[in-house]
Amino acid sequence: MIEIENVRKSFGTLEVLKGIDLTVQKGEVVTVIGGSGSGKSTLLTCINGLEPIDSGRILVDGTEVHAKATDLNRLRRKIGIVFQQFNAFPHLTVLENVMLAQVKVLKRPKAEAEAEAVKQLNHVGLGDKLAVYPSRLSGGQQQRMAIARALAMSPGYMLFDEVTSALDPQLVGEVLDTLRMLAREGMTMICVTHEMKFAREVSDRVAFFHKGVMAEIAPPDHLFGAPRDPELQKFLSATH
Ligand SMILES: Nc1ncnc2c1ncn2[C@@H]1O[C@H](COP(=O)(O)OP(=O)(O)OP(=O)(O)O)[C@@H](O)[C@H]1O
Ligand SMILES: [Mg+2]
Repeated sequence: MIEIENVRKSFGTLEVLKGIDLTVQKGEVVTVIGGSGSGKSTLLTCINGLEPIDSGRILVDGTEVHAKATDLNRLRRKIGIVFQQFNAFPHLTVLENVMLAQVKVLKRPKAEAEAEAVKQLNHVGLGDKLAVYPSRLSGGQQQRMAIARALAMSPGYMLFDEVTSALDPQLVGEVLDTLRMLAREGMTMICVTHEMKFAREVSDRVAFFHKGVMAEIAPPDHLFGAPRDPELQKFLSATH
Protein backbone atom coordinates (compact mmCIF):
# COMPACT_ATOMS: atom_id res chain seq x y z
CA MET A 1 0.00 0.00 0.00
CA ILE A 2 0.99 3.64 -0.45
CA GLU A 3 0.78 5.83 2.64
CA ILE A 4 1.14 9.58 2.27
CA GLU A 5 1.31 11.37 5.59
CA ASN A 6 1.12 15.15 5.93
CA VAL A 7 3.39 15.75 2.95
CA ARG A 8 4.53 19.29 2.31
CA LYS A 9 6.57 20.44 -0.62
CA SER A 10 7.62 23.84 -1.90
CA PHE A 11 9.36 25.05 -5.02
CA GLY A 12 11.14 28.15 -3.75
CA THR A 13 8.53 30.25 -2.01
CA LEU A 14 5.62 28.47 -3.67
CA GLU A 15 4.09 25.78 -1.49
CA VAL A 16 2.77 23.19 -3.93
CA LEU A 17 1.69 20.43 -1.52
CA LYS A 18 0.25 21.71 1.73
CA GLY A 19 -0.03 18.71 3.98
CA ILE A 20 -1.36 15.85 1.87
CA ASP A 21 -2.70 12.72 3.59
CA LEU A 22 -3.73 9.79 1.44
CA THR A 23 -3.58 6.02 1.80
CA VAL A 24 -4.01 3.88 -1.28
CA GLN A 25 -4.75 0.24 -0.50
CA LYS A 26 -3.55 -2.68 -2.58
CA GLY A 27 -5.92 -3.11 -5.53
CA GLU A 28 -7.40 0.34 -5.14
CA VAL A 29 -7.83 2.81 -8.00
CA VAL A 30 -7.60 6.43 -6.95
CA THR A 31 -7.99 9.15 -9.55
CA VAL A 32 -6.79 12.68 -8.93
CA ILE A 33 -8.53 15.64 -10.49
CA GLY A 34 -8.04 19.38 -10.09
CA GLY A 35 -7.03 22.55 -11.86
CA SER A 36 -3.71 23.29 -13.49
CA GLY A 37 -0.95 23.90 -10.94
CA SER A 38 -2.87 22.30 -8.06
CA GLY A 39 -0.01 19.87 -7.34
CA LYS A 40 -1.23 16.65 -8.97
CA SER A 41 1.93 15.86 -10.95
CA THR A 42 4.15 16.91 -8.07
CA LEU A 43 2.42 14.39 -5.82
CA LEU A 44 3.18 11.56 -8.28
CA THR A 45 6.83 12.55 -8.65
CA CYS A 46 7.15 12.65 -4.85
CA ILE A 47 5.64 9.17 -4.52
CA ASN A 48 8.36 7.59 -6.64
CA GLY A 49 11.08 9.73 -5.15
CA LEU A 50 11.82 11.80 -8.26
CA GLU A 51 11.22 14.89 -6.11
CA PRO A 52 12.27 15.39 -2.50
CA ILE A 53 9.68 16.50 0.05
CA ASP A 54 10.04 19.12 2.78
CA SER A 55 8.17 17.32 5.56
CA GLY A 56 5.83 14.44 6.23
CA ARG A 57 6.51 11.01 4.78
CA ILE A 58 5.53 8.61 2.03
CA LEU A 59 5.65 4.86 2.58
CA VAL A 60 5.45 2.29 -0.19
CA ASP A 61 4.90 -1.21 1.20
CA GLY A 62 6.20 0.15 4.49
CA THR A 63 9.43 1.57 3.04
CA GLU A 64 9.90 5.29 3.51
CA VAL A 65 10.56 6.74 0.06
CA HIS A 66 12.60 9.73 1.18
CA ALA A 67 14.54 8.11 4.02
CA LYS A 68 18.32 8.29 3.56
CA ALA A 69 18.75 4.55 3.89
CA THR A 70 16.17 3.74 1.20
CA ASP A 71 17.49 2.27 -2.01
CA LEU A 72 15.47 4.43 -4.40
CA ASN A 73 16.34 2.50 -7.52
CA ARG A 74 15.09 -0.64 -5.92
CA LEU A 75 11.93 1.01 -4.62
CA ARG A 76 11.17 2.58 -8.01
CA ARG A 77 11.01 -0.86 -9.59
CA LYS A 78 7.80 -1.36 -7.66
CA ILE A 79 6.27 1.78 -9.10
CA GLY A 80 5.51 2.15 -12.79
CA ILE A 81 4.95 5.69 -13.96
CA VAL A 82 3.58 6.84 -17.31
CA PHE A 83 3.53 10.48 -18.29
CA GLN A 84 1.59 12.60 -20.74
CA GLN A 85 4.68 13.01 -22.89
CA PHE A 86 5.72 9.81 -24.43
CA ASN A 87 9.42 9.00 -24.67
CA ALA A 88 10.77 6.01 -26.56
CA PHE A 89 14.10 5.18 -28.12
CA PRO A 90 13.47 5.92 -31.79
CA HIS A 91 16.22 3.60 -33.03
CA LEU A 92 14.78 0.58 -31.18
CA THR A 93 11.72 -1.41 -32.23
CA VAL A 94 8.64 -1.54 -30.06
CA LEU A 95 9.73 -4.93 -28.76
CA GLU A 96 13.25 -3.70 -27.99
CA ASN A 97 11.90 -0.61 -26.25
CA VAL A 98 9.85 -2.78 -23.93
CA MET A 99 12.78 -5.15 -23.31
CA LEU A 100 15.44 -2.56 -22.59
CA ALA A 101 14.86 -1.62 -18.95
CA GLN A 102 14.10 -5.22 -18.04
CA VAL A 103 17.57 -6.22 -19.23
CA LYS A 104 19.45 -3.12 -18.01
CA VAL A 105 17.70 -2.51 -14.71
CA LEU A 106 16.25 -5.85 -13.66
CA LYS A 107 19.12 -7.84 -15.27
CA ARG A 108 16.64 -10.24 -16.79
CA PRO A 109 18.06 -12.63 -19.35
CA LYS A 110 17.18 -11.49 -22.88
CA ALA A 111 14.91 -14.40 -23.66
CA GLU A 112 12.92 -13.82 -20.50
CA ALA A 113 12.71 -10.07 -21.16
CA GLU A 114 11.52 -10.75 -24.68
CA ALA A 115 8.84 -13.16 -23.52
CA GLU A 116 7.62 -10.62 -20.96
CA ALA A 117 7.66 -7.81 -23.56
CA VAL A 118 5.62 -9.90 -26.00
CA LYS A 119 3.18 -10.75 -23.23
CA GLN A 120 2.67 -7.14 -22.17
CA LEU A 121 2.48 -5.84 -25.73
CA ASN A 122 -0.23 -8.39 -26.44
CA HIS A 123 -1.90 -7.35 -23.22
CA VAL A 124 -2.25 -3.74 -24.42
CA GLY A 125 -3.26 -4.79 -27.93
CA LEU A 126 0.05 -4.21 -29.72
CA GLY A 127 0.93 -7.81 -30.45
CA ASP A 128 1.10 -7.00 -34.17
CA LYS A 129 3.55 -4.09 -33.73
CA LEU A 130 6.56 -5.83 -32.21
CA ALA A 131 8.98 -5.15 -35.07
CA VAL A 132 7.77 -1.63 -35.82
CA TYR A 133 9.67 1.55 -34.84
CA PRO A 134 7.90 3.90 -32.40
CA SER A 135 7.62 6.71 -34.96
CA ARG A 136 5.29 4.48 -36.96
CA LEU A 137 2.81 4.17 -34.09
CA SER A 138 -0.17 6.44 -33.53
CA GLY A 139 -0.18 8.53 -30.36
CA GLY A 140 -2.56 6.12 -28.67
CA GLN A 141 -0.41 3.16 -29.65
CA GLN A 142 2.68 4.96 -28.34
CA GLN A 143 1.01 5.51 -24.99
CA ARG A 144 -0.05 1.87 -24.85
CA MET A 145 3.56 0.91 -25.58
CA ALA A 146 4.65 3.10 -22.66
CA ILE A 147 2.13 1.30 -20.46
CA ALA A 148 3.42 -2.09 -21.65
CA ARG A 149 6.96 -0.99 -20.92
CA ALA A 150 6.03 -0.03 -17.37
CA LEU A 151 4.06 -3.26 -16.83
CA ALA A 152 6.97 -5.36 -18.09
CA MET A 153 8.91 -4.28 -15.01
CA SER A 154 6.31 -6.15 -12.89
CA PRO A 155 5.44 -3.14 -10.73
CA GLY A 156 3.18 -3.37 -7.71
CA TYR A 157 1.81 0.11 -8.38
CA MET A 158 1.12 2.21 -11.45
CA LEU A 159 1.02 6.00 -11.53
CA PHE A 160 -0.51 7.67 -14.59
CA ASP A 161 -0.15 11.39 -15.22
CA GLU A 162 -2.67 12.59 -17.79
CA VAL A 163 -1.68 9.89 -20.22
CA THR A 164 -4.43 10.85 -22.65
CA SER A 165 -4.20 14.62 -22.65
CA ALA A 166 -1.72 14.93 -25.53
CA LEU A 167 -3.81 12.62 -27.73
CA ASP A 168 -6.23 13.37 -30.52
CA PRO A 169 -9.75 12.80 -29.20
CA GLN A 170 -10.31 9.67 -31.32
CA LEU A 171 -7.26 8.02 -29.71
CA VAL A 172 -8.20 8.73 -26.09
CA GLY A 173 -10.65 5.84 -25.88
CA GLU A 174 -8.17 3.07 -26.65
CA VAL A 175 -5.79 4.26 -23.93
CA LEU A 176 -8.58 4.63 -21.37
CA ASP A 177 -9.73 1.12 -22.28
CA THR A 178 -6.25 -0.13 -21.41
CA LEU A 179 -6.39 1.62 -18.03
CA ARG A 180 -9.87 0.20 -17.41
CA MET A 181 -8.54 -3.27 -18.12
CA LEU A 182 -5.70 -2.82 -15.61
CA ALA A 183 -8.16 -1.57 -13.01
CA ARG A 184 -10.37 -4.62 -13.56
CA GLU A 185 -7.35 -6.87 -13.17
CA GLY A 186 -6.74 -5.41 -9.72
CA MET A 187 -3.69 -3.20 -10.41
CA THR A 188 -3.18 -0.60 -7.70
CA MET A 189 -3.28 2.72 -9.53
CA ILE A 190 -3.18 6.45 -9.02
CA CYS A 191 -4.41 8.21 -12.16
CA VAL A 192 -4.23 11.95 -12.65
CA THR A 193 -6.82 12.68 -15.28
CA HIS A 194 -9.00 15.31 -16.91
CA GLU A 195 -11.40 12.62 -18.13
CA MET A 196 -14.27 12.93 -15.67
CA LYS A 197 -16.37 10.16 -17.18
CA PHE A 198 -13.42 7.79 -16.91
CA ALA A 199 -12.74 8.88 -13.32
CA ARG A 200 -16.34 8.22 -12.47
CA GLU A 201 -16.34 4.74 -13.95
CA VAL A 202 -13.01 3.37 -12.89
CA SER A 203 -12.21 4.85 -9.48
CA ASP A 204 -12.70 3.47 -6.04
CA ARG A 205 -12.09 7.00 -4.83
CA VAL A 206 -11.59 10.35 -6.51
CA ALA A 207 -9.39 13.04 -4.95
CA PHE A 208 -9.87 16.70 -5.83
CA PHE A 209 -6.78 18.90 -5.51
CA HIS A 210 -7.00 22.65 -5.20
CA LYS A 211 -3.95 24.87 -4.68
CA GLY A 212 -1.88 22.18 -3.01
CA VAL A 213 -4.66 20.91 -0.77
CA MET A 214 -6.63 17.70 -1.19
CA ALA A 215 -9.90 19.53 -0.78
CA GLU A 216 -12.13 16.48 -1.08
CA ILE A 217 -11.81 12.73 -1.49
CA ALA A 218 -14.73 10.38 -1.87
CA PRO A 219 -16.11 7.50 -3.91
CA PRO A 220 -17.05 8.79 -7.38
CA ASP A 221 -20.82 8.72 -6.80
CA HIS A 222 -20.39 11.03 -3.84
CA LEU A 223 -17.71 13.26 -5.27
CA PHE A 224 -19.47 13.82 -8.59
CA GLY A 225 -23.03 13.40 -7.39
CA ALA A 226 -22.90 15.49 -4.24
CA PRO A 227 -19.69 17.53 -4.14
CA ARG A 228 -19.32 19.42 -0.86
CA ASP A 229 -16.26 21.58 -1.41
CA PRO A 230 -17.22 24.89 -3.10
CA GLU A 231 -14.08 24.85 -5.26
CA LEU A 232 -14.91 21.33 -6.40
CA GLN A 233 -18.42 22.45 -7.27
CA LYS A 234 -16.95 25.25 -9.38
CA PHE A 235 -14.44 22.91 -10.99
CA LEU A 236 -17.08 20.37 -11.92
CA SER A 237 -19.49 22.91 -13.36
CA ALA A 238 -16.64 24.33 -15.48
CA THR A 239 -15.61 20.92 -16.83
CA HIS A 240 -19.09 19.69 -17.74
N1 LIG B 1 10.38 21.68 -10.93
C1 LIG B 1 9.64 22.73 -10.59
N2 LIG B 1 10.21 23.90 -10.23
C2 LIG B 1 9.46 24.96 -9.87
N3 LIG B 1 8.12 24.96 -9.83
C3 LIG B 1 7.49 23.83 -10.18
C4 LIG B 1 8.21 22.66 -10.58
N4 LIG B 1 7.31 21.69 -10.85
C5 LIG B 1 6.10 22.23 -10.64
N5 LIG B 1 6.19 23.51 -10.22
C6 LIG B 1 5.08 24.38 -9.86
O1 LIG B 1 4.33 23.71 -8.87
C7 LIG B 1 2.94 23.93 -9.06
C8 LIG B 1 2.23 22.60 -9.15
O2 LIG B 1 2.65 21.97 -10.34
P1 LIG B 1 2.09 20.55 -10.80
O3 LIG B 1 2.83 20.22 -12.04
O4 LIG B 1 2.17 19.60 -9.68
O5 LIG B 1 0.58 20.90 -11.10
P2 LIG B 1 -0.54 19.99 -11.78
O6 LIG B 1 -1.68 19.92 -10.82
O7 LIG B 1 0.04 18.71 -12.23
O8 LIG B 1 -1.00 20.89 -13.04
P3 LIG B 1 -1.41 20.46 -14.53
O9 LIG B 1 -2.86 20.07 -14.48
O10 LIG B 1 -1.22 21.73 -15.32
O11 LIG B 1 -0.51 19.37 -14.97
C9 LIG B 1 2.80 24.79 -10.30
O12 LIG B 1 2.63 26.13 -9.89
C10 LIG B 1 4.12 24.61 -11.00
O13 LIG B 1 4.45 25.75 -11.74
MG1 LIG C 1 0.37 17.88 -14.10
